Amino acid sequence: MTKLTTGAFLIGILAIGYFTVVQPASAVAQSLDELATGCAGCHGENGVPIDKTIPNIWGQNRSYLLTQLLDFKRGHRVNEQMSPMVEALSKTDMEALATHFSKLSWPDLQQPPVPDDVKAKARAILNPLNCRGCHQEHYQGDMVRPRLAGQQDDYLVKTMTDFHTGDRKTYLGMVALMKSIDEADIKALGAYLAALKLPGHIDQPH
Ligand code: HEC
Ligand code: HEC
Repeated sequence: MTKLTTGAFLIGILAIGYFTVVQPASAVAQSLDELATGCAGCHGENGVPIDKTIPNIWGQNRSYLLTQLLDFKRGHRVNEQMSPMVEALSKTDMEALATHFSKLSWPDLQQPPVPDDVKAKARAILNPLNCRGCHQEHYQGDMVRPRLAGQQDDYLVKTMTDFHTGDRKTYLGMVALMKSIDEADIKALGAYLAALKLPGHIDQPH
């Protein structure tokens, strides 16, 4: 939590009213709470994103969240909705946001179980490519590899397709892997991963 003196806090409060209306990308320092409230506009107030193509970030692994924010800021990852959100953020802001969101509980996005034939199809693609070698046994991820289990279906499909086409090049290993998979098969992978729940004993590597 950023420490602010009472005076600076009051100025901050006055500034939000002014800048949200007139100049949202202002460099005026904002507290972590204010920054996180801005994120909730899309990523959801209770952790459920407002749209199916927006990823859940609650409970995602901290280093992964930070890498993505830095990559958006450096222009290594580009998205018309997300890229403008990091323009005014400092590295310290991004570190604080990554810590904040990684500590929140992963929401239940209420995604339906998948039929057995889709499960079988997905496993037949995922297992030989050893996706769990990096994303871990239950697709819970680790310090640098994101959790995939229970992520939004449509977002997973979109971002895997972005790796496949090369629109997302943040990690060339993922680009190569996804290029080796037919675009038509990616839908089954998204549905399968989205429906996975972590066993209770798994401790998230925040
Ligand atoms: C206007 C809507 C919007 C707002 C506001 C927004 N985001 Fe996003 N965010 C998105 C979208 C859309 C994506 C997916 C981008 C893509 O498909 O590549 C995303 C992706 C991300 C990712 C990558 C997650 C992953 O699994 O790869 C992180 C991290 C993130 N946002 C954090 C934040 C933070 C922190 C804030 C507040 C400072 C924020 N976002 C505000 C729309 C938004
Ligand atoms: C060699 C390690 C490795 C293997 C194997 C691997 N991944 Fe990844 N994966 C990563 C890393 C690292 C990232 C984060 C990339 C970045 O920084 O953008 C990632 C990111 C992802 C994402 C993006 C998640 C998000 O929130 O945006 C998806 C989806 C994904 N991997 C799916 C898969 C699938 C499916 C397989 C098997 C075909 C696989 N991965 C195999 C290392 C790996």
